Amino acid sequence: MAETSMLNIGVYSFWGQIMSVPKPQMEEGFSFSSLKVVLLLVFLVQFTVADSQHKPAGDGMQPLSKIQIHRAVYELHENASVKAYPVLLGTKGEDSQWVTVEVASPKPSEDDWLAVFSPANFNSSTCPSTYDRQKAPNICSAPIKYRFANDSNVDYVKTGEASLKFQLINQRADFSFALFSGGLFSPKLLAVSNAVSFVNPKAPLYPRLAQGKYWDEMTVTWTSGYNIIEAVPFVEWGLKGEAQIQSPAGTLTFHRESMCAPPARTVGWRDPGFFHTSFLKNLWPNSLYTYKLGHRLSNGSNIWSKSYHFKSSPYPGQDSLQHVVIFGDMGKAERDGSNEYNAYQPGSLNTTDQLIKDLDNIDIVFHIGDITYANGYISQWDQFTSQVEPIASVVPYMIASGNHERDVPGTGSFYDGNDSGGECGVLAETMFYVPAENRAKFWYSTDYGMFHFCIADSEHDWREGSEQYKFIEKCLASADRQKQPWLIFVAHRVLGYTSSSWRDGSFGEPMGRESLQKLWQKYKVDIAFFGHVHNYERTCPIYQNQCVNTEKSHYSGTFNGTIHVVVGGGGSHLTDFGPVQTTWSLFRDSDFGFVKLTAFNHSSLLLEYKKSSDGNVYDSFTISRDYRDVLACVHDGCEPTTLAT
Ligand SMILES: [Fe+2]
Repeated sequence: MAETSMLNIGVYSFWGQIMSVPKPQMEEGFSFSSLKVVLLLVFLVQFTVADSQHKPAGDGMQPLSKIQIHRAVYELHENASVKAYPVLLGTKGEDSQWVTVEVASPKPSEDDWLAVFSPANFNSSTCPSTYDRQKAPNICSAPIKYRFANDSNVDYVKTGEASLKFQLINQRADFSFALFSGGLFSPKLLAVSNAVSFVNPKAPLYPRLAQGKYWDEMTVTWTSGYNIIEAVPFVEWGLKGEAQIQSPAGTLTFHRESMCAPPARTVGWRDPGFFHTSFLKNLWPNSLYTYKLGHRLSNGSNIWSKSYHFKSSPYPGQDSLQHVVIFGDMGKAERDGSNEYNAYQPGSLNTTDQLIKDLDNIDIVFHIGDITYANGYISQWDQFTSQVEPIASVVPYMIASGNHERDVPGTGSFYDGNDSGGECGVLAETMFYVPAENRAKFWYSTDYGMFHFCIADSEHDWREGSEQYKFIEKCLASADRQKQPWLIFVAHRVLGYTSSSWRDGSFGEPMGRESLQKLWQKYKVDIAFFGHVHNYERTCPIYQNQCVNTEKSHYSGTFNGTIHVVVGGGGSHLTDFGPVQTTWSLFRDSDFGFVKLTAFNHSSLLLEYKKSSDGNVYDSFTISRDYRDVLACVHDGCEPTTLAT
């Protein structure tokens, strides 16, 4: 009996982590024969877990979702303690700081873990009023991160003492650290630390730039704890070294009720603060600007951010050296050594760091969907904006929407999974600006010098006759190819070609090709980029499943087909390629990486695929083409002609 119940706990831990099957379902009909099945499962699970721990690619599961926080019980112990220091953070203006946490437990175990809560008070008094008070759990909100107590403290189980370091970012509330036993599935709260807090938790932080609706407009969006009633947000900006002016900013937020499903609506909810966007207009092309974020309090004093800078966009069609970075599916990771997090999105920090290193040679970044993989754990969006701040505060950081931003069943997403964890697009649409007509419909066009980008939203219907299809055609048709020779199509899911057998053994999304290939061909799209499949692959110039050009790396002359590039290896767990060899797949790499496009002038374009691990180029091709080559008549790509003279 004792053995059975011990086994039961083990099985729960597994199911809790992998499938979240509630306890009563597991207990029903438990018999000796099912015990044997369970024993086999336990063996397989232990084998699988042990195996996956040695895989660098991670398991693709949001670590916070492994914690069954609503099952937590109080077992506070007088001899257990957690102490955190320093108590006051950001005394020198920092927005991120390391905190040391000393743990002592009278009955240490290897599945003891330390949770970081923010706000510091996380008991049931914070549960939403919609909970039935009689049945309300002890804890209603997930931690913002966690580590096991023996992580980097191998003697913890013997001594009961551990010292861990956490890196905290300023995210508008104080923090506390809680020691749990019972693993992630049956948490028992043993001790809670003192609270620690940043000097100004409301400080304006994590600016992200994005192109506005016009070429001479840059938008800056940031996060703060200041409601519009408490302080007036603005940006002070101007040409570097010249007089600075102040421009107002709009303020947005959203509430728990704006979320569509759990966990975003339940344990994953955390107050997101306020999002401010200012529109910096009438910019001079290619000029260096400085800016800082401000909030004017009612007493007339100002709260200021750090100072930042950016280079304004070129005039559409302008002939100058232009660098564009494109990748998808990056996600976030933690720099404080949490193995759980590192295993979740192992390439994310490498990609971020390579881009930071090369930032002087990057003009604009496109992160084409699957942005944070917060999956309904709202706190993770702050941590993502903090991670990309060195990039997004300096160059436009343009995002596309993916399944992990938008999809929730029954909410109008084209695909029916709950990949966004209940966020249903609200986080992505509110925290990042994109020049879409309606930010809930995440399709837009943007110009950057000699490039014209058409960004599609694969999570809404793109098929012929749909609202989005009309937009895509209009966007592609609006490129003036003499001035903007480089026409780029982007979508998160692979609406074109991939060799990864992703769904039902088919390559990519066949409906996407059926609907859109005639547009790519008619409007002579140079390159179509996709994410979602977590690897790198490029095709030949292709139309209707056929290579239309035998050249492999130096394309020149008449356009006759679009090159498809999957660049979904930004950081999330990698995808293998399927067993079928195709003629159209020219280069494949199941590794973390990103693409850099360089337009040297109107006739010469270079694509480089770089690995995130070392920043070196592992694949490349060039396109050399004159205006008449784009105008030339090709199969299904001809303008109508008349015999009249
Ligand atoms: Fe995706």
